Amino acid sequence: MAPTCPFSEEIAVSDKSPVKVGVLFSETGVTAPIETTQLCGTLFAIHEINAAGGIDGRELVPVRYDPRSEPSEYQALAERLILQDKVNVIFGCYMSSTRKAVLPVVEKWNRLLFYPTLYEGFEFSNNVIYTGAAPNQNSVQLADFMTSNFGSRAYLVGSDYIYPVESNRIMKDLVRQRGGTILAECYLPLTAGVDDFLPVIRDIKKRDPSFIFSTVVGESTRHLYRAYAQAGLNPREVPIASLTTCEVEVEGMGAEYAVGHFTAAPYFQSIASETNHAVLKRYREFAGADVLTNMCWEAAYFQMHMFANAMRECGTDELGALVPGLVGVDYQAPQGRVRIDPVNHHTCLYPRIGRANSKGQFTIVREALRPVHPDPYLVSYSLGDWTTRLDTLDT
Ligand code: ACM
Repeated sequence: MAPTCPFSEEIAVSDKSPVKVGVLFSETGVTAPIETTQLCGTLFAIHEINAAGGIDGRELVPVRYDPRSEPSEYQALAERLILQDKVNVIFGCYMSSTRKAVLPVVEKWNRLLFYPTLYEGFEFSNNVIYTGAAPNQNSVQLADFMTSNFGSRAYLVGSDYIYPVESNRIMKDLVRQRGGTILAECYLPLTAGVDDFLPVIRDIKKRDPSFIFSTVVGESTRHLYRAYAQAGLNPREVPIASLTTCEVEVEGMGAEYAVGHFTAAPYFQSIASETNHAVLKRYREFAGADVLTNMCWEAAYFQMHMFANAMRECGTDELGALVPGLVGVDYQAPQGRVRIDPVNHHTCLYPRIGRANSKGQFTIVREALRPVHPDPYLVSYSLGDWTTRLDTLDT
């Protein structure tokens, strides 16, 4: 029989080796502006976690690659992170096409992807944690808000990939449920420029919708809003409603082009809460006075803290042990208190509607009082618990 050391328990030193995590956000390509903010939110949270002693003394170390906004790159780099860099957890992806490319990789190797982006719903994987909004947390509220304030003749324009197509499918149902009409549905390449949008805008003028629902993402967003302004359309009469145009896209187009248009999101930089102000203050100290945050930055930030808390609780980042410590646990995020649902792995979030203002920020015109439970399969189409903020629509 092998001899056992009587002091083995005492000399079994605790593991202080660094914890490597994979980080996959694009710093180049069509979605670089928004994904760079997700990278910043991720690195800021890692900085805070390490400054507070890491995970029980273990430093959190990001292993980071630039997948250049290309789904095939995400897939190859996810495999590299798992097989060569030996990470158990990956934080990343913006476009649904990139999440769909990483999905079979994390499922094959039984690793975990944290995905901090709103998306079209109708997906579940045991290997994904979804911290952005599902359609019952943004589309349902946006459809209700736009049809009740502007009318129900909708014109749909989007980028040509899975999220816009699926998101429009849901918006069409929601508008029709409210007695409305879809006037047109069109898609442009992710690389579309202002000249590509001009014929669409001419068609919009001709058809005279009550509002435009845009699922245009990335760099081409600014071309849509600029083409709209060039054509002399008025946001008071025919506003653009979006689930993706946030503070960073507004900065990219220039605030003057965004003023008066609407976005539905669980987080805006302008949220006047103690937690948001405190996090923004710390972020300014970390990254500089003129930081710009947005819904995807916030999800990237809070999901890293939720991961670290769960790992402290479970002592490991291996999926089977980590997930039980992650789900069902509250976290005080900048948007409010959030929680990951144990059954569907999506997050309880606070729907809000913002109207872009001249400062490049969003004035919140409507928001949920309580978090809305994620319902990625739209079983209930619930509106959540809404309140209306004053008369900000008139200003
Ligand atoms: C997205 O593609 N989920 C924005």
